[in-house]
Amino acid sequence: MTGAAAGEAPVICVDGPSGAGKGTLAQSLADTLSWNLLDSGALYRVVGLACLSGGVPLDQAQQVAVVARSLDVTFQPGAEGVSVWLSGADVTREIRSEEGGISASTVAALPEVREALLLRQRELARLPGLVADGRDMGTVVFPSADLKIFLTASAEARAERRYHQLQGRGESVNLARLLAAIIERDARDESRSASPLVPADDAIVLDSTALSAGEVLSRVCELVSARAIMGEASEKRLDSAEASRQ
Ligand code: C5P
Repeated sequence: MTGAAAGEAPVICVDGPSGAGKGTLAQSLADTLSWNLLDSGALYRVVGLACLSGGVPLDQAQQVAVVARSLDVTFQPGAEGVSVWLSGADVTREIRSEEGGISASTVAALPEVREALLLRQRELARLPGLVADGRDMGTVVFPSADLKIFLTASAEARAERRYHQLQGRGESVNLARLLAAIIERDARDESRSASPLVPADDAIVLDSTALSAGEVLSRVCELVSARAIMGEASEKRLDSAEASRQ
Protein backbone atom coordinates (compact mmCIF):
# COMPACT_ATOMS: atom_id res chain seq x y z
CA MET A 1 0.00 0.00 0.00
CA THR A 2 1.31 3.48 -0.76
CA GLY A 3 -0.73 6.68 0.00
CA ALA A 4 -2.79 5.32 2.90
CA ALA A 5 -0.99 5.09 6.25
CA ALA A 6 -0.91 1.70 8.00
CA GLY A 7 -4.42 0.77 9.14
CA GLU A 8 -5.99 3.57 7.08
CA ALA A 9 -8.23 2.60 4.23
CA PRO A 10 -6.96 3.40 0.73
CA VAL A 11 -9.26 5.61 -1.35
CA ILE A 12 -9.77 5.87 -5.11
CA CYS A 13 -11.74 8.93 -6.28
CA VAL A 14 -13.81 8.98 -9.47
CA ASP A 15 -14.94 12.55 -10.24
CA GLY A 16 -16.35 14.16 -13.36
CA PRO A 17 -19.49 15.58 -14.98
CA SER A 18 -22.89 13.88 -15.22
CA GLY A 19 -23.12 10.96 -17.61
CA ALA A 20 -19.37 10.41 -18.13
CA GLY A 21 -19.73 6.85 -16.79
CA LYS A 22 -18.48 7.50 -13.24
CA GLY A 23 -21.23 5.43 -11.62
CA THR A 24 -20.56 2.41 -13.85
CA LEU A 25 -16.79 2.69 -13.37
CA ALA A 26 -17.00 3.20 -9.59
CA GLN A 27 -19.41 0.30 -9.13
CA SER A 28 -17.39 -2.13 -11.30
CA LEU A 29 -14.11 -1.08 -9.68
CA ALA A 30 -15.58 -1.55 -6.18
CA ASP A 31 -16.92 -4.97 -7.26
CA THR A 32 -13.56 -5.98 -8.78
CA LEU A 33 -11.60 -5.02 -5.67
CA SER A 34 -14.37 -5.95 -3.18
CA TRP A 35 -14.07 -2.44 -1.73
CA ASN A 36 -16.74 -0.15 -0.29
CA LEU A 37 -18.51 2.30 -2.59
CA LEU A 38 -19.60 5.88 -1.95
CA ASP A 39 -22.15 7.30 -4.41
CA SER A 40 -22.02 10.89 -3.16
CA GLY A 41 -24.44 12.09 -5.87
CA ALA A 42 -27.10 9.84 -4.32
CA LEU A 43 -26.61 11.66 -1.00
CA TYR A 44 -27.30 15.05 -2.64
CA ARG A 45 -30.25 13.54 -4.51
CA VAL A 46 -31.70 12.18 -1.25
CA VAL A 47 -31.29 15.58 0.45
CA GLY A 48 -33.23 17.19 -2.44
CA LEU A 49 -35.98 14.59 -2.20
CA ALA A 50 -36.22 14.82 1.60
CA CYS A 51 -36.60 18.61 1.30
CA LEU A 52 -39.26 18.41 -1.39
CA SER A 53 -41.30 15.84 0.51
CA GLY A 54 -40.87 17.72 3.81
CA GLY A 55 -41.85 21.09 2.31
CA VAL A 56 -38.39 22.62 2.85
CA PRO A 57 -37.60 25.25 0.16
CA LEU A 58 -34.41 24.25 -1.70
CA ASP A 59 -32.92 27.74 -1.45
CA GLN A 60 -33.15 27.96 2.37
CA ALA A 61 -29.55 26.94 3.16
CA GLN A 62 -29.90 26.57 6.95
CA GLN A 63 -33.08 24.50 6.74
CA VAL A 64 -31.68 22.30 3.96
CA ALA A 65 -28.50 21.76 6.03
CA VAL A 66 -30.63 20.57 8.97
CA VAL A 67 -32.26 18.03 6.65
CA ALA A 68 -28.80 16.94 5.37
CA ARG A 69 -27.43 16.49 8.90
CA SER A 70 -30.38 14.44 10.15
CA LEU A 71 -30.81 12.35 7.01
CA ASP A 72 -31.81 8.73 7.72
CA VAL A 73 -30.29 7.22 4.56
CA THR A 74 -28.95 3.72 3.94
CA PHE A 75 -27.35 2.04 0.93
CA GLN A 76 -28.12 -1.64 0.41
CA PRO A 77 -26.09 -3.66 -2.10
CA GLY A 78 -28.20 -6.16 -4.07
CA ALA A 79 -28.20 -8.23 -7.25
CA GLU A 80 -29.31 -5.21 -9.32
CA GLY A 81 -26.85 -2.77 -7.79
CA VAL A 82 -27.12 -0.63 -4.70
CA SER A 83 -30.57 0.49 -3.56
CA VAL A 84 -31.04 3.73 -1.65
CA TRP A 85 -33.40 3.98 1.32
CA LEU A 86 -34.69 7.15 2.95
CA SER A 87 -36.40 6.79 6.34
CA GLY A 88 -37.22 3.15 5.60
CA ALA A 89 -38.58 3.71 2.04
CA ASP A 90 -36.85 2.56 -1.15
CA VAL A 91 -36.21 5.77 -3.14
CA THR A 92 -33.68 4.33 -5.64
CA ARG A 93 -35.82 5.03 -8.69
CA GLU A 94 -37.33 8.28 -7.49
CA ILE A 95 -33.98 9.99 -6.92
CA ARG A 96 -32.71 9.03 -10.41
CA SER A 97 -35.28 11.17 -12.29
CA GLU A 98 -34.18 14.31 -14.18
CA GLU A 99 -35.99 16.40 -11.53
CA GLY A 100 -34.02 14.53 -8.86
CA GLY A 101 -30.79 15.60 -10.61
CA ILE A 102 -31.90 19.23 -10.73
CA SER A 103 -32.87 19.40 -7.04
CA ALA A 104 -29.61 17.61 -6.14
CA SER A 105 -27.52 20.17 -7.99
CA THR A 106 -29.55 23.02 -6.43
CA VAL A 107 -28.92 21.86 -2.84
CA ALA A 108 -25.32 20.88 -3.74
CA ALA A 109 -24.55 24.54 -4.49
CA LEU A 110 -25.14 25.44 -0.81
CA PRO A 111 -21.86 25.42 1.22
CA GLU A 112 -23.80 24.62 4.44
CA VAL A 113 -25.16 21.45 2.86
CA ARG A 114 -21.74 20.33 1.56
CA GLU A 115 -20.29 20.87 5.03
CA ALA A 116 -23.16 18.89 6.61
CA LEU A 117 -22.40 15.89 4.37
CA LEU A 118 -18.60 15.99 4.69
CA LEU A 119 -18.15 13.82 7.79
CA ARG A 120 -20.77 11.31 6.66
CA GLN A 121 -18.75 10.77 3.46
CA ARG A 122 -15.35 10.55 5.18
CA GLU A 123 -16.66 7.94 7.62
CA LEU A 124 -17.14 5.56 4.70
CA ALA A 125 -13.38 5.28 4.11
CA ARG A 126 -13.10 1.87 5.76
CA LEU A 127 -10.88 -1.14 5.09
CA PRO A 128 -10.24 -2.83 2.73
CA GLY A 129 -10.75 0.42 0.77
CA LEU A 130 -13.21 2.91 -0.71
CA VAL A 131 -14.12 3.88 -4.26
CA ALA A 132 -15.70 7.35 -4.02
CA ASP A 133 -17.82 8.65 -6.89
CA GLY A 134 -18.72 12.34 -7.17
CA ARG A 135 -17.62 15.83 -8.16
CA ASP A 136 -15.34 16.91 -5.30
CA MET A 137 -14.04 13.59 -3.99
CA GLY A 138 -10.43 14.34 -5.00
CA THR A 139 -10.48 18.10 -4.38
CA VAL A 140 -12.34 18.38 -1.04
CA VAL A 141 -13.58 15.17 0.56
CA PHE A 142 -10.48 12.94 0.14
CA PRO A 143 -7.64 15.32 -0.85
CA SER A 144 -4.96 12.74 0.02
CA ALA A 145 -6.60 9.86 -1.89
CA ASP A 146 -4.29 7.23 -3.38
CA LEU A 147 -5.63 7.61 -6.92
CA LYS A 148 -7.84 10.32 -8.44
CA ILE A 149 -9.57 9.76 -11.75
CA PHE A 150 -11.43 12.61 -13.48
CA LEU A 151 -13.68 10.90 -16.00
CA THR A 152 -15.09 13.07 -18.74
CA ALA A 153 -16.83 12.75 -22.15
CA SER A 154 -18.36 15.15 -24.68
CA ALA A 155 -21.78 16.56 -23.68
CA GLU A 156 -23.28 14.93 -26.81
CA ALA A 157 -21.94 11.46 -25.89
CA ARG A 158 -23.20 11.86 -22.34
CA ALA A 159 -26.68 12.95 -23.49
CA GLU A 160 -26.86 9.99 -25.87
CA ARG A 161 -25.90 7.51 -23.15
CA ARG A 162 -28.53 8.97 -20.84
CA TYR A 163 -31.08 8.83 -23.67
CA HIS A 164 -30.51 5.09 -24.19
CA GLN A 165 -30.53 4.44 -20.45
CA LEU A 166 -33.91 6.18 -19.96
CA GLN A 167 -35.36 4.61 -23.10
CA GLY A 168 -34.29 1.20 -21.81
CA ARG A 169 -36.31 1.90 -18.68
CA GLY A 170 -39.37 2.62 -20.81
CA GLU A 171 -39.35 6.38 -20.14
CA SER A 172 -40.27 8.78 -22.93
CA VAL A 173 -37.28 11.05 -23.58
CA ASN A 174 -36.15 13.82 -25.88
CA LEU A 175 -32.45 13.90 -26.84
CA ALA A 176 -32.25 17.67 -27.43
CA ARG A 177 -33.84 18.36 -24.04
CA LEU A 178 -31.46 15.93 -22.32
CA LEU A 179 -28.46 17.63 -23.95
CA ALA A 180 -29.68 21.06 -22.83
CA ALA A 181 -30.22 19.76 -19.27
CA ILE A 182 -26.71 18.24 -19.17
CA ILE A 183 -25.11 21.48 -20.39
CA GLU A 184 -27.11 23.47 -17.83
CA ARG A 185 -26.19 21.11 -14.96
CA ASP A 186 -22.47 21.17 -15.97
CA ALA A 187 -22.52 24.97 -15.96
CA ARG A 188 -24.11 25.06 -12.49
CA ASP A 189 -21.67 22.45 -11.10
CA GLU A 190 -18.60 24.13 -12.64
CA SER A 191 -19.44 27.71 -11.73
CA ARG A 192 -20.59 27.36 -8.12
CA SER A 193 -18.27 28.82 -5.51
CA ALA A 194 -18.54 25.85 -3.10
CA SER A 195 -16.50 22.86 -4.36
CA PRO A 196 -16.88 23.55 -8.09
CA LEU A 197 -16.50 20.65 -10.52
CA VAL A 198 -12.80 20.78 -11.46
CA PRO A 199 -10.16 18.05 -11.66
CA ALA A 200 -7.80 17.92 -8.66
CA ASP A 201 -4.25 19.01 -9.57
CA ASP A 202 -3.08 15.41 -9.16
CA ALA A 203 -6.05 13.78 -10.94
CA ILE A 204 -5.66 11.68 -14.06
CA VAL A 205 -8.12 12.94 -16.67
CA LEU A 206 -9.67 10.16 -18.74
CA ASP A 207 -11.92 10.98 -21.73
CA SER A 208 -14.48 8.18 -22.16
CA THR A 209 -16.16 9.60 -25.33
CA ALA A 210 -14.76 6.85 -27.55
CA LEU A 211 -14.30 4.13 -24.91
CA SER A 212 -16.61 1.33 -23.78
CA ALA A 213 -17.28 0.83 -20.06
CA GLY A 214 -14.99 -2.24 -20.15
CA GLU A 215 -12.15 -0.25 -21.73
CA VAL A 216 -12.47 2.47 -19.10
CA LEU A 217 -12.36 -0.14 -16.32
CA SER A 218 -9.27 -1.82 -17.85
CA ARG A 219 -7.39 1.47 -18.04
CA VAL A 220 -8.21 2.32 -14.46
CA CYS A 221 -7.26 -1.18 -13.26
CA GLU A 222 -3.86 -0.68 -14.95
CA LEU A 223 -3.41 2.57 -13.02
CA VAL A 224 -4.45 0.88 -9.77
CA SER A 225 -1.90 -1.90 -10.35
CA ALA A 226 0.83 0.57 -11.30
CA ARG A 227 0.36 2.50 -8.05
CA ALA A 228 0.32 -0.64 -5.88
CA ILE A 229 -2.47 0.85 -3.80
CA MET A 230 -4.10 -2.34 -2.65
CA GLY A 231 -3.58 -4.86 0.07
CA GLU A 232 -2.67 -8.39 -1.02
CA ALA A 233 -6.26 -9.69 -1.14
CA SER A 234 -7.49 -6.86 -3.41
CA GLU A 235 -4.42 -7.31 -5.63
CA LYS A 236 -5.27 -10.98 -6.17
CA ARG A 237 -8.86 -10.07 -7.08
CA LEU A 238 -7.59 -7.46 -9.54
CA ASP A 239 -5.22 -9.98 -11.15
CA SER A 240 -7.97 -12.56 -11.60
CA ALA A 241 -10.39 -9.93 -13.01
CA GLU A 242 -7.69 -8.88 -15.52
CA ALA A 243 -7.05 -12.51 -16.47
CA SER A 244 -10.77 -13.15 -17.06
CA ARG A 245 -11.02 -10.08 -19.33
CA GLN A 246 -8.21 -11.35 -21.58
O1 C5P B 1 -23.71 12.09 -9.66
P1 C5P B 1 -25.14 12.54 -9.70
O2 C5P B 1 -25.64 12.90 -11.07
O3 C5P B 1 -26.06 11.59 -9.01
O4 C5P B 1 -25.17 13.89 -8.84
C1 C5P B 1 -26.30 14.72 -8.80
C2 C5P B 1 -25.87 16.15 -8.53
O5 C5P B 1 -25.33 16.23 -7.21
C3 C5P B 1 -24.77 16.68 -9.45
O6 C5P B 1 -25.26 17.32 -10.60
C4 C5P B 1 -24.04 17.68 -8.57
O7 C5P B 1 -24.67 18.93 -8.63
C5 C5P B 1 -24.26 17.16 -7.17
N1 C5P B 1 -23.06 16.53 -6.63
C6 C5P B 1 -22.10 17.32 -6.07
N2 C5P B 1 -21.00 16.78 -5.48
C7 C5P B 1 -20.84 15.45 -5.45
C8 C5P B 1 -21.80 14.60 -6.06
C9 C5P B 1 -22.90 15.17 -6.67
O8 C5P B 1 -22.21 18.54 -6.08
N3 C5P B 1 -19.78 14.95 -4.85
